[in-house]
Amino acid sequence: MKISDQTLKLLQEQIAIEANAANYYLSVASWCKVTGYSGASCFFRAHSAEEREHMSKIIQYLNGLKIHAQIPATEQPPQNMESLEQVCKIALDNEKNVTQSINKIIDTAQDEKDHRTSVFLEWFVNEQINEEDLFESIMQKFDIIGRDKLALHEIDKILDKLKDTS
Ligand SMILES: [Fe+2]
Ligand SMILES: [Fe+2]
Repeated sequence: MKISDQTLKLLQEQIAIEANAANYYLSVASWCKVTGYSGASCFFRAHSAEEREHMSKIIQYLNGLKIHAQIPATEQPPQNMESLEQVCKIALDNEKNVTQSINKIIDTAQDEKDHRTSVFLEWFVNEQINEEDLFESIMQKFDIIGRDKLALHEIDKILDKLKDTS
């Protein structure tokens, strides 16, 4: 085996984390659509697809090491959403947690002198910097533009534009 049991366990957990993130964003996209936030719905649907790609990246990495990556059961994402700001705040918190879990795998891989895995995960480090920056900038919009109906409509339009850059 080219990676340790512990690193493999963490990578398997990361597959589940990415899958749960994909489901959360899909659930948000569904809520946004019926609540009248079409732009935000497109944004979160695109973001869900991205998380699925992250999951796939890890699966393929393990496959490249001749390891049969396990596809995990996923959690039921929250069904009751309160506001656009709330779902964006949860997204930001989730992304911060993902950053921590990626860092933990890198720490473990480095302890084990598993350079292959730490180099593989460098892409995720950069991705998480972008993800946190993105959701922080979205949260800032609520402070700058506001939270009334017109402001939310404006933020929805901004999210629509952001869907291609996320
Ligand atoms: Fe991700
Ligand atoms: Fe993400």
